[in-house]
Amino acid sequence: MGLLSGKRALVVGVANKRSIAWGIARSLAEEGADLALTYQHDRFRENLDKLVPELPHGALTLPLDVSDDASLDALRESLAAQWGKVDIVVHSVAFARTEDLQSRFVDLPREGYALSQDVSAYSLVALTRAVLPLLQAAGGGSVLTMTHLGGERVMPSYNVMGVAKAALESAMRYLAWDCGGDNIRVNAISAGPLRTLASSAVKAATALRDVPERTPLKRNIALEDVGRAATFLCSDWAQNITGQVLFVDAGFHIMGM
Ligand SMILES: NC(=O)c1ccc[n+]([C@@H]2O[C@H](COP(=O)([O-])OP(=O)(O)OC[C@H]3O[C@@H](n4cnc5c(N)ncnc54)[C@H](O)[C@@H]3O)[C@@H](O)[C@H]2O)c1
Repeated sequence: MGLLSGKRALVVGVANKRSIAWGIARSLAEEGADLALTYQHDRFRENLDKLVPELPHGALTLPLDVSDDASLDALRESLAAQWGKVDIVVHSVAFARTEDLQSRFVDLPREGYALSQDVSAYSLVALTRAVLPLLQAAGGGSVLTMTHLGGERVMPSYNVMGVAKAALESAMRYLAWDCGGDNIRVNAISAGPLRTLASSAVKAATALRDVPERTPLKRNIALEDVGRAATFLCSDWAQNITGQVLFVDAGFHIMGM
């Protein structure tokens, strides 16, 4: 029996084997959860087709564009038909245009701001709403999102994504309050820098990976660290933890210099 035996987990955000969502999916599966993984594009579907056989019990694979309400509705209908309930939702999604990360923050155009807010922050609200009936059918559950210290402090070049993460963390807390009466917990993991598709456009992430001695533990984190912390937060062991940001960053966030 694993920690998550009998649980059904929807994981959104696997693009490839470096994705944080993939690290989380592997950990959840190791602890016995059944998985549904979503893909944004056909290109990522091909990646999933190669990755899923590595999981002990395979996984459902379903399309999802979090910025499209019809796509979210279709996901719910598909999961309702195949599973009937969902216990765990992992939201590991973000997007900003490269030019909006790399230009001066003061030059950020309205549409770049709105786009990153929609995909990176509002999508947590939209996804939670879409699967709410399935979480209720499970008698409650756990929703988890991924954030970064740049949502609280200034990280040069995180720019538009820092503002999106601040909104995401606030949305996480309001969802925790709003859905707590349904026994649904909502939390975030604030991860240290990992080399992924999304982080390749962020200069600060590259710089931090290069100086692990600036963390108390003198090392970078690994995908497995986030996976294990996520597994804990999604399990019944965390049954009275909600509205929380858990740092998985080798302690970097405590530093003043
Ligand atoms: N890599 C890091 O250093 C780091 C650190 C802290 C937090 N994070 C956060 O972790 C999360 C996952 O990022 P990652 O680093 O694993 O990169 P990634 O590129 O592997 O994952 C980002 C995912 O977002 C998905 N996505 C983007 N727009 C979408 C849309 N409209 N519909 C559906 N999916 C969409 C992509 O398909 C991709 O799977 C993000 O929220 C990111 O901000 C990353």
